Amino acid sequence: MAGQTMALLLLISIFYSLASASNIHEPPALSPSPSLTTTLMTSKSAIKAGYWPSGMSSTFPASAIDTTYFTHIYFAFLLPDPTTYRLIINQDDGKLLGNFTAALRGKKKQVKTLLSIGGGGSNSTTFAQMASSAANRAAFIDSTIAAARMYGFDGVDLDWEFPQTQQDLDNLGTLFAEWRAALDTEAAATGRRRLLLTSAVYFAAKFILADNRAYPAASIADNVDWVNAMCFDYRGSWNTSATGAHAALFYNNSNVSTSFGLRSWVEAGVPRRKVVMGLPLYGRTWQLKDPSISGVGAPAVGVGPGNGTMFFNDVVDYNMKNNATVVYDGPTVSTYSYYGTAWIGYDDATSVTRKIYYAQGLKLGGYFFWALGFDKDWMISEQASRAWS
Ligand SMILES: *[C@@H]1O[C@H](CO)[C@@H](O)[C@H](O)[C@H]1NC(C)=O
Ligand SMILES: *[C@@H]1O[C@H](CO)[C@@H](O)[C@H](O)[C@H]1NC(C)=O
Ligand SMILES: *[C@@H]1O[C@H](CO)[C@@H](O)[C@H](O)[C@H]1NC(C)=O
Ligand SMILES: *[C@@H]1O[C@H](CO)[C@@H](O)[C@H](O)[C@H]1NC(C)=O
Ligand SMILES: *[C@@H]1O[C@H](CO)[C@@H](O)[C@H](O)[C@H]1NC(C)=O
Ligand SMILES: *[C@@H]1O[C@H](CO)[C@@H](O)[C@H](O)[C@H]1NC(C)=O
Ligand SMILES: *[C@@H]1O[C@H](CO)[C@@H](O)[C@H](O)[C@H]1NC(C)=O
Repeated sequence: MAGQTMALLLLISIFYSLASASNIHEPPALSPSPSLTTTLMTSKSAIKAGYWPSGMSSTFPASAIDTTYFTHIYFAFLLPDPTTYRLIINQDDGKLLGNFTAALRGKKKQVKTLLSIGGGGSNSTTFAQMASSAANRAAFIDSTIAAARMYGFDGVDLDWEFPQTQQDLDNLGTLFAEWRAALDTEAAATGRRRLLLTSAVYFAAKFILADNRAYPAASIADNVDWVNAMCFDYRGSWNTSATGAHAALFYNNSNVSTSFGLRSWVEAGVPRRKVVMGLPLYGRTWQLKDPSISGVGAPAVGVGPGNGTMFFNDVVDYNMKNNATVVYDGPTVSTYSYYGTAWIGYDDATSVTRKIYYAQGLKLGGYFFWALGFDKDWMISEQASRAWS
């Protein structure tokens, strides 16, 4: 599961289910009522996180992470065994895990490390079965605590993509409650700092493009330290009829946008500080039908360079090499570039900065990137960290 192709696979498969985007209404206004305490806390302790795809360790080892710009780094990913529900950790995984925490402990700027379980390419049914019985949940929970302690992590994270039914989501709420109780018990018994518990989740609190099944907001509020809302992949190579801003902050008349998703989490009752905004360090590409019609939503006839997906560092190199035209799109708060019929929609330092101001305005907990290793010379990581200060 930590193979080289894993990271790419994840990119392509995360949020594949959003393919049928078709919502047509402005998100409702929501009036933030921040207390003074929240305001003071926000600037002091914003979460600035990034996932490190362990499958990229040969080209981007954990030792290459510049921790200056981060507070939390995730190891991505481990998987549960489909019959015992305990984490699968073979010899190579063990080395990767040990190397990861050792490399980060050796950094001058210290960060917290979290062990993430799941990912976009993982099997949703296995998670559903794990979450469906007390015995399975206990085996899973016990194994995550053992692994986190053995390799020196500060926390654990669940990236179940995605619970398929309301029953799955209710079971997830039970899992969070039992997991948190086990973490509290372990901390009390050992006298160690409690492990953090976080979860990567759909961009919105309900699956608005399907059956409106809802995340267990009350259990999240009570038991989880924060959720990482995956605010990306709204548009992509599964629909080649038009270009799109795959992580748009606003999308004209659609609810499929980062602003809608983040607000939906707050409206569901998850405390603002427990909502963390996802930022993609990659773009989505299309082939334009007519090179002279090149905006967001322009007619397209296929995927563009990179077979539909490009890391931010490759986008920068591609634009430079081809002298591509780069345009900041105000309405969606995104950036795109084009060269001939090749079209790339992505986030750059400008759009990321505006999104961060938006998240700060909502008094959210912070932001995270998918994924470390895709940035260009830490350009966006640095700018994001500076913007949220
Ligand atoms: C593809 O995208 C276009 C433009 O955004 C949209 O009008 C169309 O409904 C989408 N098609 C599908 C199958 O989702
Ligand atoms: C968008 O979300 C709002 C608020 O949840 C809802 O009233 C509206 O029906 C949604 N639009 C669509 C097209 O689903
Ligand atoms: C672990 O780190 C050592 C020393 O930095 C390195 O030689 C080795 O290749 C790493 N192993 C893995 C699996 O990352
Ligand atoms: C996913 O896991 C379930 C249960 O463990 C198994 O039956 C199914 O074959 C798996 N699906 C894939 C695509 O591996
Ligand atoms: C949003 O609406 C404006 C005005 O109707 C239109 O010009 C623009 O193309 C639309 N943008 C998208 C991304 O659909
Ligand atoms: C391009 O992506 C599609 C699906 O997204 C995949 O089926 C195909 O194999 C890919 N082609 C190459 C050359 O990687
Ligand atoms: C790059 O593109 C700009 C217009 O987008 C053009 O003015 C300039 O001459 C181009 N430079 C090269 C080296 O092609």
